[in-house]
Amino acid sequence: MTKHCYIHGFGSFAPAKVLTNHDLEKFVDTNDEWIRTRTGIEERHVVEEGQCTSDLVTEAAKVALADAGIGAEALTHILVATCTPDAYCPNTACVVEDKLGIKGAMALDMNAACSGFVYGLQVACGLTAVSEDTTILLSGGETLTTRLNWEDRNTCVLFGDAAGAVVISAKQTPGSAKVVDIELSSDGSLRDLLTIAGGGSSVPYKLNQPVPAEHFVMMQGREVFKHAVRSMAGICETLLTRNGMTASDVDLLIPHQANIRIIEAVGKKLEIESEKVFVNLNKFGNTSAASIPLALADAKRQGLLKPGMRVLLTTFGGGFTWGSALLEF
Ligand SMILES: CC(C)(COP(=O)(O)OP(=O)(O)OC[C@H]1O[C@@H](n2cnc3c(N)ncnc32)[C@H](O)[C@@H]1OP(=O)(O)O)[C@@H](O)C(=O)NCCC(=O)NCCS
Repeated sequence: MTKHCYIHGFGSFAPAKVLTNHDLEKFVDTNDEWIRTRTGIEERHVVEEGQCTSDLVTEAAKVALADAGIGAEALTHILVATCTPDAYCPNTACVVEDKLGIKGAMALDMNAACSGFVYGLQVACGLTAVSEDTTILLSGGETLTTRLNWEDRNTCVLFGDAAGAVVISAKQTPGSAKVVDIELSSDGSLRDLLTIAGGGSSVPYKLNQPVPAEHFVMMQGREVFKHAVRSMAGICETLLTRNGMTASDVDLLIPHQANIRIIEAVGKKLEIESEKVFVNLNKFGNTSAASIPLALADAKRQGLLKPGMRVLLTTFGGGFTWGSALLEF
C-alpha cells in the first residue's frame, strides 16, 4: 500500500437472545456433540422479531466511536458490510446514520458476504487517500438467522447474528492501529457453492407465492471447507511475502470465525501456533461480515492487542471472496 490508514476505535454488539446447541436440539435433528466436534460452536446470538441489522450496527458503532473518543458528528462516511441488510432500499448505512442522529455522511452498503469487512477495509483506506479529513465508520453487521432454513441442519446450526465496527482515518494517533497492507481476491465461477439467492433478480419474489428454499442460505459445506482453507492460507502467504515477513513475525492471527476445523487447518498450513490464533466462534457461531470486527473488538477487550503487535486478519466468504489484512498496533 502506498498510503496507510489507521484504526482508532473498536466496537461490537450482539443481540441479547442466545440459542445454545441444546436449544437447537429441540427443533432440529442435531445434537450438541455433533455441532461442537464438527464446528466448535457452542451457542450463537440471535435477533428477536423486529431487531434489524442496523440496530446491531448502530450499537457497535456507538462503542467504536466512544473507544475512538469522537462523536458521531465527526463521521464523513458510513460503510456497512452486510449480506443481510435491513431492506433492499434504503441501504442499511442510511438507517444507521439516522439512528446515530447525524446527516450528511456518505452512506454505503457493501456485500462481499463474510469477506465484507476486509473488503471494506480496502475501500475505507482508498477513501482516506482521497481526502486527509475523512473519518469513516466501517462496520460489518449481519442478521443471518433471518435467512436460515431451520429445516436444513447442514446450515442452520452454523450462523449467528452480531455487528462489529471500527473508526478509520488517515491520521495516526496514540493507540491507533496502522493498516499496513491488504490483499483481496475472488472467484465468481464458484458462486453457486454458497448462496442466499432468493429475492434477487435471479430468484425474484412473487406476490402470494410460497417462499422457496432458495430464499435462504444454501451451501455445499465440504467444498466450501476445502476452498476456505486453501484460499485463506494462500492469501496470507502472499501478503506476508510482499511485506518481507514470514508467519513467525505474526503476533496474532484473527481468522474469519466460520468453523474451528477451518481455523485450525489455516493456522497449521501457515505454521502459526494455536496460542497465536484468536477464536471466539464458540460463543457466536459464524457471523459473516461481522466476524472479523467482532473478533477484533473482543481481542481488544481481552487485552490481547498490545502496542507493537502485528496482527494478521484473514477471511473467506460467498462469491467466493477472500482476503487478508496486516495491522500494526
Ligand atoms: C458444514 C460442515 C460442518 C459439515 O461437516 P462435515 O464433516 O463436512 O459433514 P458432512 O457434510 O460430511 O456430513 C456428515 C454427516 O453429518 C450429517 N449432518 C450434517 N449436519 C448435521 C447436524 N447439524 N447435526 C447432525 N448431523 C448433521 C450429514 O447429514 C451427514 O450425514 P450422512 O453421512 O448420513 O449423510 C463442514 O462441511 C463445514 O464446516 N463446511 C464449511 C462451512 C462454512 O464454514 N461455511 C461458511 C464459510 S464462510
